[in-house]
Amino acid sequence: MNALELTDVRKVYPVGDSEVVALDHASLTLGQNEILALVGPSGSGKTTLLSIAGGILSPSSGKVVVGGEDISDYSNGQLTRFRQEKVGFVFQSVNLVPFLTAAENLFVVDELGPRTGKPARATAGKLLDELGLAERTKNLPSQLSGGERQRVAIGRALMNDPDLVLFDEPTSALDTGLGAQVMELIRSEMKQRGISAIVVTHDPRITEYCDRTVQIVDGELSA
Ligand SMILES: Nc1ncnc2c1ncn2[C@@H]1O[C@H](COP(=O)(O)OP(=O)(O)OP(=O)(O)O)[C@@H](O)[C@H]1O
Ligand SMILES: [Mg+2]
Repeated sequence: MNALELTDVRKVYPVGDSEVVALDHASLTLGQNEILALVGPSGSGKTTLLSIAGGILSPSSGKVVVGGEDISDYSNGQLTRFRQEKVGFVFQSVNLVPFLTAAENLFVVDELGPRTGKPARATAGKLLDELGLAERTKNLPSQLSGGERQRVAIGRALMNDPDLVLFDEPTSALDTGLGAQVMELIRSEMKQRGISAIVVTHDPRITEYCDRTVQIVDGELSA
């Protein structure tokens, strides 16, 4: 079973009286434990594709199957449940809650659904430990370096034990050396856990840490 199958996906955003076609005829297969790099210019549809693959947005038309589950026509409630069970997100802007510590940022995510309380705290501690942040669990985001913040965001994406993790430019705020370190960490965490991933990037050096690269231009994919 494939981790992700997009078939002829189209996404149209209404803007005033007109519309923007953000994705068109997008078909893509992601294998089990595969890490795919998605590369394309600004505005080409990368975040839109990630959002549809992760059940944040529904496609205007076409089919979206994640781990054998067809989510194409899911309601908002069904999508929320799907995200809680299957998907992790790491956003470009990291999006840590500024007034919560590193550990708290891991166990407060709403994507956790029912998995809160003590077990979540234990999982958060274990993950931060694995990510080399055992000494930083009580730090606020403002008391962490850029790379450390990104590691907290990776930990947060792993809290619900996802099958698929979607990374939107995870290294864009980091210098080259740190970006490479974070990509190495992402690769080893994904491979070790058997998770499939899509990594959106502008940076050709980042694609070396991925198994395969797909280009996107004006909402259309090409290998
Ligand atoms: N909510 C929205 N409403 C209207 N248009 C949108 C919306 N979100 C994105 N778009 C448009 O859809 C197209 C694709 O946007 P998207 O955010 O997927 O691009 P991207 O490849 O992630 O760009 P970047 O590299 O700058 O993050 C762009 O033309 C954008 O202006
Ligand atoms: Mg984007």
